[in-house]
Amino acid sequence: MQANKTLDVYYHDQIVGTLAETPDKRIAFQYNDTWQKNGFSISPFSLPLRNDVFVPNERSIDRFGGLFGVFADSLPDSWGELLLDRHLASLGIKRGDVTTLERLAYVGRSGMGALEYLPSKESDFDLKNIGIDFDTIAKECEKILSSKQSEQLDILYKMGGSSGGTRPKILLSEADKEWIVKFPAKNDPEISGKREYDYSIYAKNCRISMTETQLVPSSVCEGYFKTERFDRHNDEKLFTITFAALLEADFRAPSCDYETFFKLTRALTKDAAYDKEQLYKIMCFNVLTHNRDDHTKNFSFIHSNLNGWKLAPAYDITYSDTYWGEHTTSVNGKGKNITDQDLINLGVAAGLSDGYCRQCFNEIHEKTQALEHYLNPHNRKTVIHRSFHERV
Ligand SMILES: Nc1ncnc2c1ncn2[C@@H]1O[C@H](COP(=O)(O)OP(=O)(O)OP(=O)(O)O)[C@@H](O)[C@H]1O
Ligand SMILES: [Mg+2]
Repeated sequence: MQANKTLDVYYHDQIVGTLAETPDKRIAFQYNDTWQKNGFSISPFSLPLRNDVFVPNERSIDRFGGLFGVFADSLPDSWGELLLDRHLASLGIKRGDVTTLERLAYVGRSGMGALEYLPSKESDFDLKNIGIDFDTIAKECEKILSSKQSEQLDILYKMGGSSGGTRPKILLSEADKEWIVKFPAKNDPEISGKREYDYSIYAKNCRISMTETQLVPSSVCEGYFKTERFDRHNDEKLFTITFAALLEADFRAPSCDYETFFKLTRALTKDAAYDKEQLYKIMCFNVLTHNRDDHTKNFSFIHSNLNGWKLAPAYDITYSDTYWGEHTTSVNGKGKNITDQDLINLGVAAGLSDGYCRQCFNEIHEKTQALEHYLNPHNRKTVIHRSFHERV
């Protein structure tokens, strides 16, 4: 392994292993000896805990910049990548000149989840006393999305450069908790923050586990969505991994069915009832409230030594259409015209009782009626399967 083409991966100050670039630009990984004895597999299907040099397959080059999914999770998505590219441009560095390993080095210790990459290339900005005016941040984000110059690039990069997802975001520390605040993307309506907040309240009311959520007031729109981070707890970094990473799947394309999600959840959580019930509820909620952007990066697991693998709280739950007008993750093979029986069949196949699945569907159907004003009537109709309601 050449010295300048490697990067060490850390978790809670312990070395997990080393990443190294191969001649064809894939990024190989090897666990450290001590981690092999005392650690856990950070991606059980792709990186079992053994003494091996793991090389990702060729598809990883397009999908994850040549990385295994678990490391690609640490890279920012489009928004953070845009900020990094602008930041590098301001330093005279061209986008094409930065390798995947260097991008991870820019993430350094500040990535989502618990993995850290050293030696890091994180920039040292002084963010003390900058004061935060959310409307100003939203305006600066908009400027960046419109390819204009922003005076606040350094601040935005430091505050949100390592965040995932498409929408502009900042990461905040407030009241002893860590938070994400989301700002609208270019084509998002002004209600998008309020709508995501409303969805979170209804999801919680349907007994879907989510972190604390708030609506930040604004004088230019109906507010910004703010959510507590589930990858931070009492100053500790929790290990998280997305479904996309675990499955080495392309999250941009429809590549999965909820059936796979159930299999994955059952395998990792040792068939824990709570986790598969949560997944069932999220699936029903997504279908009933037209959240079609249910891609493999919008679901995660958390690992801890104490609890093993647990489904992470739900996130990115809001009204969304997709380019192709169907759910990104299919239900019983269908991306649209999904019936309640499709949902129940999947729940039952995952080992939940028929009674539980029906009762749970009914409850979510009932409790989400008030979100109807966000849906166009046609959307709602597609999920009501009359024969079922006639039967119960
Ligand atoms: N409460 C949370 N705690 C920790 N991580 C979170 C939380 N909410 C979201 N994330 C992480 O941040 C990423 C982006 O968040 P989110 O999916 O809400 O943003 P988005 O820009 O709307 O995404 P998309 O590109 O799916 O539209 C997620 O993929 C997830 O990894
Ligand atoms: Mg998302």
